[in-house]
Amino acid sequence: MSALAAFSASTSAAILASRISACSSSLSSSVFCLRLHRRLCSAGSRSPFSPRPFCSRTPMAQRTVAQATLGLTQANAVDPPQISFSAKEIELGEWEGDILAVGVTENDMKRDSESKFENPILKKLDELVEGLLAEASKEEDFSGKAGQSTVLRIKGLGFKRLGLLGLGNSSSSSISAFRGLGEGVAAAAKSSQSSSVAILLASTDELPADTKLKTAYSIVLGTVLGTHEDTRFKAESKKSKLQSVDIIGLGSGSDLAQKLKYASNVCSGIIFGRELVNAPANVLTPGALAEEASRIAAECKDVLSAKILDAEQCKELKMGSYLGVAAASTNPPHFIHLCYKPPNGEVKTKLAIVGKGLTFDSGGYNIKTGPGCLIELMKFDMGGSAATLGAARAIGLIKPPGVEVHFIVAACENMISGTGMRPGDILTASNGKTIEVNNTDAEGRLTLADALVYACNQGVEKIVDLATLTGACIVALGPSIAGFFTPSEDLAKEVLSASAVTGEKLWRLPLEDSYWESMKSGVADMVNTGGRQGGAITAALFLKQFVDEKVQWMHIDMAGPVWNEKKKSATGFGISTLVEWVLKHSN
Ligand code: BES
Ligand code: MN
Ligand code: ZN
Repeated sequence: MSALAAFSASTSAAILASRISACSSSLSSSVFCLRLHRRLCSAGSRSPFSPRPFCSRTPMAQRTVAQATLGLTQANAVDPPQISFSAKEIELGEWEGDILAVGVTENDMKRDSESKFENPILKKLDELVEGLLAEASKEEDFSGKAGQSTVLRIKGLGFKRLGLLGLGNSSSSSISAFRGLGEGVAAAAKSSQSSSVAILLASTDELPADTKLKTAYSIVLGTVLGTHEDTRFKAESKKSKLQSVDIIGLGSGSDLAQKLKYASNVCSGIIFGRELVNAPANVLTPGALAEEASRIAAECKDVLSAKILDAEQCKELKMGSYLGVAAASTNPPHFIHLCYKPPNGEVKTKLAIVGKGLTFDSGGYNIKTGPGCLIELMKFDMGGSAATLGAARAIGLIKPPGVEVHFIVAACENMISGTGMRPGDILTASNGKTIEVNNTDAEGRLTLADALVYACNQGVEKIVDLATLTGACIVALGPSIAGFFTPSEDLAKEVLSASAVTGEKLWRLPLEDSYWESMKSGVADMVNTGGRQGGAITAALFLKQFVDEKVQWMHIDMAGPVWNEKKKSATGFGISTLVEWVLKHSN
């Protein structure tokens, strides 16, 4: 019963503001501990992703801050709850804490002729609680279906509550079942205000080692992300008190310890990304987004560097397409370029991740009107950039060897004013191609055009771009599946196998060349929108015009999965898959 792996995972992006240092510990050497030191800015303004590590007093920062106070909104200082995960091998009944949670499949719930559990773990637990488990699960019709749960308050044992959480039948998707298990644990811990939980599976014996690692990964993501609630803009909220989670029966070696640490770093990236998307456009201006990017680079300055270009510098690079979109806004554009270089050793592969960073999309002169246009949600139009920067943060913490990654965002707003682009205007992109803007609401592709040209100039082998690009993609695939486009079979395979680990849903759509017909202009090289039909495809064909043929490229349209309408919150879509994809290129 040794705690062979333990580390702390912050459940808030606020750990961005922390300095992370390995701490000595009384536990064995394979123990990980990330201790998070926060230093609050004592004076002046603060980031919406507080607490912040550095006080920046540059004129640019002050200007951003002045605009970020529209409506007097300031993000609350939310202290990040920390959850430490430990992998343990321990006898049932020996564990002490608040909730012992057991993941059970429908098969595990089989009973013998005397109505007793056949599964040895459930049988033993039921004996410990004198048959209450069998009774309660019968009364509550608990059959192990995914999402079902039943929690007993018990007395006389080392733990106060015993929970059963359904995993469905074993043939159903295990990733979502174990994510769901973690989420169920997070919910049970919150409602009972528990701080210590143990999670075990009723049947783990047959699982191969690799499956155990994947299972632990999904459980950590479910637990941490299920616990995280974005309360920065609420005056009142009930918070989870969950602090420690023991994962029992999945092993306790260093591979598992490493996996737990990896999963926690991925969570830090996802929470950061979610908070970026949730932040309203009056707080998260293009300047504020650039500040956040600089901040995560400063936090991991051994491996991440930041370059932020202002409008003047973008003009020098001839980014007429991007600057055309930014032209109507009082909040100036900021072109963000983070570069990850491994701490030591040679770089074998250079990659780029490019994200659409519209901190607000009004549509411009083709203003978004009418029911269902979702203008009130268009703060999420920087979801691609949140995925990009969330991945940058996770990669900065994980520090994979052998790979260099460029994270690129052409951040701006799509607004309306006398200085803005008009329908019919012709823009010239940084590769010299000209674009007749027949619709100012197709702005994302205009910003991505210059961002993709810039990415190709970094000498990368592969580029993945992510964008909340088209309503058409939501019509095609619904709210929870992203569409992807790529001429490269290899890249398609790589990203799909990454998403098979993370459970994020991606579906390939065709780059149908014959549809380019509708993108022809009488006066420029192209227009920026085709007809209503195949809108996600023509958008992808437009982007292709700005990518070097030598570079492998994928476009991911994440307009649907960026947002969870039921939770009224960002999902952090893309981050876990991007991190997994980058790690495939690491040695
Ligand atoms: N940001 C939108 C796409 C979008 C719409 C995302 C709804 C999520 C929900 C994008 O800039 C846009 O406005 N696209 C237009 C393109 C059209 C003008 C060809 C669209 O999809 O309507
Ligand atoms: Mn638009
Ligand atoms: Zn948009």
